[in-house]
Amino acid sequence: MTPELEDLLNFLRIPSISTDSAHVEDVKACADFLEAKLSGMGLQVEVHKTPGHPIVVARNEHQEGRQTVLLYGHYDVQPVDPIELWDSAPFEPEIREGKIWARGSTDNKGQLLAHVLGLEKTLKERGELPVNLICLFEGEEEIGSVNLVPFLERHRASLKADVILVSDTGMVAPGVPTMGYGLRGITCAEVYVKGPGMDLHSGVYGGAVANPATAIARIVASFHDESGKVAIEGFYDEVEPLAEWEREMWKEVPGMSPADLKKVTGARELFGESGYTGAEQIWARPTCEVNGIGGGYQGEGSKTVLPAEAMAKISCRLVPNQKPAVILAKLEAHVRKHCPPGVELHFEEGHSGGSYVADPHDVFGKAAQRALKTVFGREPVLIREGGSIPIIQDFKEILGIDTLMLGLALPDCQIHAPNENFTIENFEAGIRLNQVVLDEIANI
Ligand code: BES
Ligand code: ZN
Repeated sequence: MTPELEDLLNFLRIPSISTDSAHVEDVKACADFLEAKLSGMGLQVEVHKTPGHPIVVARNEHQEGRQTVLLYGHYDVQPVDPIELWDSAPFEPEIREGKIWARGSTDNKGQLLAHVLGLEKTLKERGELPVNLICLFEGEEEIGSVNLVPFLERHRASLKADVILVSDTGMVAPGVPTMGYGLRGITCAEVYVKGPGMDLHSGVYGGAVANPATAIARIVASFHDESGKVAIEGFYDEVEPLAEWEREMWKEVPGMSPADLKKVTGARELFGESGYTGAEQIWARPTCEVNGIGGGYQGEGSKTVLPAEAMAKISCRLVPNQKPAVILAKLEAHVRKHCPPGVELHFEEGHSGGSYVADPHDVFGKAAQRALKTVFGREPVLIREGGSIPIIQDFKEILGIDTLMLGLALPDCQIHAPNENFTIENFEAGIRLNQVVLDEIANI
């Protein structure tokens, strides 16, 4: 096993689940792991405490006249459940079929470490990096980067850079170099409806009392019309229409045909807003999704009950020009309007984050594309991402810096799901990519 792979397996063994308070020390252990690794490479490292998980900042000695590159990544991971669906333990990484299987292998420890190991390799080969570097690694991305935003505001001056590099995004197909120049935003909410004071016998009282599970179903069913459009009033008011050049360019992107999407998702049929291709629906159109729904008896067999309450978790993905707070208010108004009588409604707001879009053809975008071409041996495709990394728009607003997204996550890497995996091929490509892209940026 290579020393690089050994480093990654050690990093993956730390169960840094940021949302779970039982893992606070593990998240910290990951920050310590990075501190040791980065200082061992000769970088100046600071670990900043926050009210939540730590922020790791590392830099080389900056020299006048060089480009400054900020490298961002996150070392926290998503929870592992449903644990019974994993073929091997999530924090005991295994190598099978040329892939590393573990929680965080792709999102984001594998991709983050590939960059760090690229830096290490360049430092070993040349004794220095070609650019001024700032590494910024956080442990709260999966829970909304709550402490990183005020950190950016406080450290605006010392985080000043020319460009930001992020590998926390996707690659459309194996071997197809992919540069992301946009992300969808997000706004989340939870809806609870309460009916009777307790669960009731559905025969003794059913028919005379409103059922909260039915109320939730009616609310959720009102989110879309028959054609797949979101039916929330004013939902599309601010949406920026797709540019013709993007629609043309995306037609050529591999891995996004209806057959590809059916295969990778396992969906029986595709469904979505009519008039748009799959790529357009995912990358440039807003959505309203139910992430969880519950209420009433879920155990074995039947139980004739009229539940006292029911709930749904909702997230809307947003596109440029849509403001999270505005969409959240429209969602709440819609839910209140469609809540049937006889139940009491509670609407709770959750995470939010803005969408992001940049010009993929500026000098930094072109440099990144040259690097991708060198490493993968073919022209990169340019995409926007359907997922969200809210801090990237915050970087733009607070620091005034654009981000290059050089993702290595394959469509079947199963991030946030059981059996998350990262190919060794992409891990090695990521190490090389870091080396080449810094040289390309240095030569601008
Ligand atoms: N790395 C993902 C986002 C992602 C995945 C972007 C694939 C592009 C392609 C990130 O870690 C993530 O999951 N973000 C959350 C954000 C939320 C918790 C605010 C998301 O998108 O749900
Ligand atoms: Zn994630």
